[in-house]
Amino acid sequence: MTSHDVTTQTPAAGESGLQAPSPVLGGTPLAGRVAVVTGASSGIGEATAERLAELGASVALLARREDRLKDLAERITAAGGRALAVPTDVTDRDAVAAAQERVARELGTVDLVFANAGVQLISAIGDLEVADWDAQIDLNVTGVMNTVRGWVRDLEEAAAAGRSADLVVTSSIAATRVLEKFQVYSGTKAFLTQLVRVLRTELGRKGVRVASIAPGMVDTELPDHVTDPDASRLMADLLEQIDVLQSADIAETVAFVAAVPRHVNLTEITVLPTAQAI
Ligand SMILES: NC(=O)c1ccc[n+]([C@@H]2O[C@H](COP(=O)([O-])OP(=O)(O)OC[C@H]3O[C@@H](n4cnc5c(N)ncnc54)[C@H](OP(=O)(O)O)[C@@H]3O)[C@@H](O)[C@H]2O)c1
Repeated sequence: MTSHDVTTQTPAAGESGLQAPSPVLGGTPLAGRVAVVTGASSGIGEATAERLAELGASVALLARREDRLKDLAERITAAGGRALAVPTDVTDRDAVAAAQERVARELGTVDLVFANAGVQLISAIGDLEVADWDAQIDLNVTGVMNTVRGWVRDLEEAAAAGRSADLVVTSSIAATRVLEKFQVYSGTKAFLTQLVRVLRTELGRKGVRVASIAPGMVDTELPDHVTDPDASRLMADLLEQIDVLQSADIAETVAFVAAVPRHVNLTEITVLPTAQAI
């Protein structure tokens, strides 16, 4: 692996003494890569965009909150990296197509897509919260399909030119776990996990790697949108009782998936806090 510049560093101790910060990669193994990160305005997407840039990639930042994207782009640029804020609602296929054109013009052909934007809204099916069902399906399923549509040609082109090319999707352990009231969210994530399995049959042959990451509990803004008291308590208890994952842990995982040699496809990765039982 050393010939591919995937090196290790000794992680320093974290603030709590329990959570060491995540970096395991060193150097600039992603130099020359052009990445798109959706959901880059907070949480996992923000941390991943920053880490990919730190490791040498140029990064296009997609989400709706333009101010957050601009702040992140400034931070990346100030640290010597290259980033482009592209405010985009990924549920809007035309907007994603426009983003693809802008990124191609300003950063070049994309060879790393992190389709990560997602929302979790929990309710009993009998509550008929149909707006929440639609919101999750629109973003977690259609938003990812729009992202795939936007950049699959770029990925194929990059792979055909002999470059590493990656599509990485954020699924969830909810794709396979049975959690009461999580049915619609779980369904959207199960869609993604299976999507990636099947996409590999077509894209792997063309040299495009496809991966799904299924995190357990990560400390982000995701639970802020949950109004169901049982689900809120479940997540609040996990946050309080165990050393949950930080966004940086998932960022490092995505970076690692992209940094390994071209013939290696880490396809399905579950990342859990060590102490998380479910
Ligand atoms: N946190 C966890 O424990 C956990 C566990 C498993 C899986 N996940 C998955 O991880 C992914 C990232 O979530 P997170 O935990 O980092 O939560 P988060 O901080 O709430 O991030 C969600 C991101 O999605 C973006 N987004 C929402 N609607 C969008 C739209 N229409 N178009 C473009 N971007 C949109 C948000 O930005 P804007 O509001 O600015 O658009 C935000 O950047 C999600 O797919 C989530 O399901 C999280």
